Amino acid sequence: MARSFQGDGRPASEHAGVLVPANPGSIERAGELLRAGHLVAFPTETVYGLGANALDPRAVARIFEVKGRPAFDPLIVHVLDESMLAEVAAGVPELARRLIDRFWPGPLTLVIDKSAAVPTLVTAGLDTVAVRSPAHPVARALLAAARVPVAAPSANRFGGLSPTRAEHVASQLGERVDCILDAGPSEHGVESTIVLIAAERPALLRHGAIPSEAIEPFTGPLLDATRPGDARKGLAAPGMLASHYAPRTKLRVVDPATVSRAERERAGLLAFRRPADAAGYAAVRVLADDGDLRRAAATLFDALHELDALGLERIDAEPVPETGVGRAIADRLRRAANG
Ligand code: TXA
Ligand code: MG
Repeated sequence: MARSFQGDGRPASEHAGVLVPANPGSIERAGELLRAGHLVAFPTETVYGLGANALDPRAVARIFEVKGRPAFDPLIVHVLDESMLAEVAAGVPELARRLIDRFWPGPLTLVIDKSAAVPTLVTAGLDTVAVRSPAHPVARALLAAARVPVAAPSANRFGGLSPTRAEHVASQLGERVDCILDAGPSEHGVESTIVLIAAERPALLRHGAIPSEAIEPFTGPLLDATRPGDARKGLAAPGMLASHYAPRTKLRVVDPATVSRAERERAGLLAFRRPADAAGYAAVRVLADDGDLRRAAATLFDALHELDALGLERIDAEPVPETGVGRAIADRLRRAANG
């Protein structure tokens, strides 16, 4: 039986909503919290995750509760190494093996057949499990401390903006989380790319930090199952809803050149690059001065959190080029616009 965190003499309630800098001591304690069935928000290279022991159905149930996430939307299981992978997967197909060798640790999630050890709640009743091995050193140290696979969705309220800073987690989930490990802003800023292996032909379920161009040399052409309309049985991520990643402020994707002065007055502009056509907007955030898509992805949610906090009438998001990681940005903006 794991030593519980209460072993240090403090009641669990005292740990509620704590935002702590990630260091060896806090990571060790967070690992013990996970083992004792508590929730820990932690940094990954993509976005912050809300973690629970993936093998503990009661702990996993709390994730759904705290996020307000519907039970039909399965979670990604985070593993440290081969032995953790073997705990949650029913074998690793050859194609998955190739992708693992190339992209792990990193922002690639593979959907493969699950083992019996994974509770149905984690996979929303599916026979498959989504699994990834994060590259972020704090996420890895946490997995090592927890010594269990960690189920972790992005640490936001369901449907809301993804958290790329610990403060985003604190403001959305705050007291409902037992510990938030802070390691500064996320490197990629968009979630992992999801590839479905457990099918006749591999399919792309979510655009993410690794562009499909980088994956296809290993897989051949991927079936594109990223649009909400693609929700054919067994070939789509159940959580990829038309409305997602949405700020509270109404958002639309629009070329600012077509927006009149009057319309700009109470609106914010989320510009892709400089020079931005920003005159007359109440507020402006530029994703990447030089138009670098990776930089734009890393800034995306931070900029949206900031614009959303201003209480504007609307956010106008300038379209981004849909190549490389630009496809993940464009995907997030389209779903945000449906919020
Ligand atoms: O970058 C990431 O992947 C982040 C960090 C925290 O690792 N996590 C993340 O989790 O984005 P979440 O819960 O926000 O998104 C998980 C997505 C959902 O769209 C869900 O439907 C899909 O993965 N998914 C999970 N298990 C699946 C399965 N067995 N089959 C198909 N889709 C699955
Ligand atoms: Mg999410």
